Amino acid sequence: MPEATFHFPPGFKWGVATASHQVEGNNTNNQWWEWEQQEGRIKQGHTSGRACDWWENAEADFDRAAAMGLNALRLSIEWSRVEPEPGRFDNAVLERYREMLRGLQQRGLEPMVTLHHFSNPLWLEQQGAWINEGTISYFVRYVERIVKLLGDQVTLWCTINEPNVYAVMSYLYGLFPPGQRDFKATRVVLQNMLKAHGAAYRAIHRLQPAAKVGLAHNLRFFDPANPRSLLDRLVASVLDRGFNRATFDAVWKGWWSLPMGFGPAWSLRHTLDWVGLNYYTRDLVAFDRGAKETLFSRLTHAPDAELLDGGYGELYPEGLRRAIKRLWRMRLPIYITENGIPDSDDDQRPAALLLHLHQLWKILQNNIPVQGYYHWTLVDNFEWAEGWTLPFGLIEMDPATGIRIPRPSADLYTAIVRGNAITPALLDAYAPRLRPRILPD
Ligand code: GAL
Repeated sequence: MPEATFHFPPGFKWGVATASHQVEGNNTNNQWWEWEQQEGRIKQGHTSGRACDWWENAEADFDRAAAMGLNALRLSIEWSRVEPEPGRFDNAVLERYREMLRGLQQRGLEPMVTLHHFSNPLWLEQQGAWINEGTISYFVRYVERIVKLLGDQVTLWCTINEPNVYAVMSYLYGLFPPGQRDFKATRVVLQNMLKAHGAAYRAIHRLQPAAKVGLAHNLRFFDPANPRSLLDRLVASVLDRGFNRATFDAVWKGWWSLPMGFGPAWSLRHTLDWVGLNYYTRDLVAFDRGAKETLFSRLTHAPDAELLDGGYGELYPEGLRRAIKRLWRMRLPIYITENGIPDSDDDQRPAALLLHLHQLWKILQNNIPVQGYYHWTLVDNFEWAEGWTLPFGLIEMDPATGIRIPRPSADLYTAIVRGNAITPALLDAYAPRLRPRILPD
């Protein structure tokens, strides 16, 4: 039997990622809370409620993360708590975040702090939030306050999580608040968020020269359903441009490209110290003459694809390697800021985890500097419009009681992290069917 152990670099960052609204509970002062109270917005009428109770007791889950041997954790700051009314900053809230960050440091978990992860203060939403260019200066003011007060505990900052997903889900598909379906608005929102990223990048560096500032991008591949069809290739490349390329053209090349039109964005150029990859799945794209609303595209799956629960898409681990290779064109350090699958009975997650980490291992052999991997996520949390129906946790949680039960994947991740490697024994124990796929002949 061939044997091989896949070692990760010494000091590799192993973490988990979360977002404030999904875990804190009682975030009553943002647009999501309001949206959740409206009928028909969230699957099965779910609400975030107490979520994972992090506002009261994040430390219990920090203990779990530390017990797994992790050395990193990504969380986000809830703007609506910090600045409940325009210009009024809540010191008690900031003190609670200080306490959480201290708690992470004490447990050997290096924090990565996201400053915006989908949720806006209600007062900002009521003014149109990211539709307005004025939001950029509000964002910078809030960011400055955070960096001044928490900067002694954090050097790794993620300005905005997935501007592309926020813009598309909120303003094109209408599935996130404010539920609009307007292409022009989508473009404006994306552009304002990228400008805000650039402004925040500079503001953070002014206050903290040693800061490492990046952005988390959800890179989703749009591959032509039929690679020999010119039209499939064309629509796939249009979607890729809008969803993926436009963001990096802006924040790396300093150039607005489609769908933002064309033109210079010099002030955004090179506003990344590192780049964050949120990788989940891919789509196949077919040209569809009748689908004007979706730019003549129809999304499908590969016929032989293993599908994920809840219609989440294909299990496509090779995409992780492809995505990293693509980001490496910028020659920046890379963090995998999110990666995981929804899987309540954990029948796919162990294999999925091994396959993705094996792809990551392969890329590391090419000396591409991936610095860390943050699994999405530690404990089942409130999955936005999908409510509690898509459980991404290594640890299962019943939202009614808060009772947590580790899934087998939690043990697997612990073993990988503690050994800093994928071993044949782990393959045999958790996904023996992968042996021929992963171990060399
Ligand atoms: C990402 C998002 C996370 C989480 C994840 C799983 O797009 O940043 O908040 O919801 O998807 O679907």
